[in-house]
Amino acid sequence: MHLKDAIQLSQIKKLFEPESVAVIGASSNPSKIGHKILNNIVSSGYKGQIYPINPHGGELLGLPVYESVKDVPDKVDLGIIVVPARLVYSVIQECADKKIPFLIIITSGFSEVGNREEEEKIVNLARKNNIRILGPNVFGIFVANTKLNATFGPPKVPHGNIAIVTQSGALGIAMIGKAAAEGMGLSAVISVGNKADINEAELLEYLKDDPNTEVILLYIEGVRDGQALVKTLKEVTKKKHVVVLKSGKSKRGAIAAASHTGSLAGSDEIFQGIADQTGVIRAEGVNEAFNFVRFLSNTTLPKGKNNVIVTNGGGLGVLCADACEKYKVPLMDDQDVLKKTYGEIVPDFGSTRNPIDLTGQATDEHYEKALVKSLRSKKIDSVMALYCETAVLDPEKTMETIARLNKEYRGKKPIVFSMFGGERINKTIAGLQAKNVPVFDGVYNCSAALGALYKRYRYLNKKQGSMPDLEINEEKIKKIVKKAYE
Ligand code: ACO
Repeated sequence: MHLKDAIQLSQIKKLFEPESVAVIGASSNPSKIGHKILNNIVSSGYKGQIYPINPHGGELLGLPVYESVKDVPDKVDLGIIVVPARLVYSVIQECADKKIPFLIIITSGFSEVGNREEEEKIVNLARKNNIRILGPNVFGIFVANTKLNATFGPPKVPHGNIAIVTQSGALGIAMIGKAAAEGMGLSAVISVGNKADINEAELLEYLKDDPNTEVILLYIEGVRDGQALVKTLKEVTKKKHVVVLKSGKSKRGAIAAASHTGSLAGSDEIFQGIADQTGVIRAEGVNEAFNFVRFLSNTTLPKGKNNVIVTNGGGLGVLCADACEKYKVPLMDDQDVLKKTYGEIVPDFGSTRNPIDLTGQATDEHYEKALVKSLRSKKIDSVMALYCETAVLDPEKTMETIARLNKEYRGKKPIVFSMFGGERINKTIAGLQAKNVPVFDGVYNCSAALGALYKRYRYLNKKQGSMPDLEINEEKIKKIVKKAYE
């Protein structure tokens, strides 16, 4: 079956926007996962119908409990299964009788521990009954649009424009916490776990057209249907930035991925090929991924390659020029324009050659003037503002200037900041980050973030057809694999 048909069949929208949800295995014991999920759904303000299911019946969080999902008097769009693995098959059977189209299986104990047979059995049962499965071995789904927090993660998730799709549950839950701590808002969080049925490609189909999502962060351990993923990513990246954190690069990492989610990590070169072909941004680690996502969700694409570095510290400027080369950030070279723009602010012993060195004697007024000139100039496309702590600069004053200018130019021209110094600077960075200003503590992080944006710029501006599509000949691949096993 083609992916498109599968999507039509499943109407993946219902997974994100169900009108009714049943929690099968909802427990009155607050330490159990089945209780936490029900509690999160109720407290998140989800407006649809909520049905707790438990053979003990009674009442839970003010809701009547049904002994079986079959007893629910109305239709159920989404069932969340939180019973032990040995009971999952019979629960799916009941969900099939109830004609529930989507199931999220929280339960662990399937292919990730070698129990592939049971996983296949439940998928086959689901397929026979036109049921789509998310999981098993997942922490659930959060959707800002429908105010649905069907996870056992934090009860309060800040709403915003970043979607996270993660194969690791614990990492996903931690990412929600980190996003909240860093003032980043989320549009959706989906845990895919063992990907026995629904995979990233189908979820991306929804997120591609979701008006609440601007940037997507993907954590992947292994790819199941590479062709579908490449096809979907090509479409998604035309509209949205996608940052990918792919683990299992090393031999040991690949072994760990196999026992974590039953994934085949595959060759990193192949995955890099997928990334280059589809225009996704790869991040090295969680912090880098968050740096990219925070910046990309808050900026605009540059109009061209005329990027300037403005600094009050010559050494920081030189380091930044090195970092720009590493991360393929272009540097403007038009000396006439640079001299004309910055000549009156830069002292004789400074430099108007990019990096623009205002020198250590630059005051807050000089710094602000240089930034305003950079942001107003039609000849400059992006700005890197570096700041070294000196006795002549007042970090509080600069913080106010940076926050104001960032707000004014946010959707007009990309600007990234890097600040370096002692305790006062650390406080300033934290204060600016809480206001969603793209400020970094090192020039390398700062250049990597702008480099990610320029990668997107190059991808979106490349001539159609300049990179040939990867032809995947399945028959040829199968023959090679067969020969290798002989
Ligand atoms: N229909 C409805 N409810 C049922 C049924 C049924 N057919 N059968 C049993 N139940 C009820 C039980 O009675 C119990 O409720 P109770 O507390 O009122 O008695 C409830 O379902 C749960 O059953 P338990 O046997 O108590 O199971 P428990 O809650 O201990 O564990 C769980 C179930 C959480 C699914 C467990 O088996 C499991 O897989 N844990 C791991 C989950 C996980 O980590 N997933 C990956 C997430 S990603 C990450 O790494 C964070």
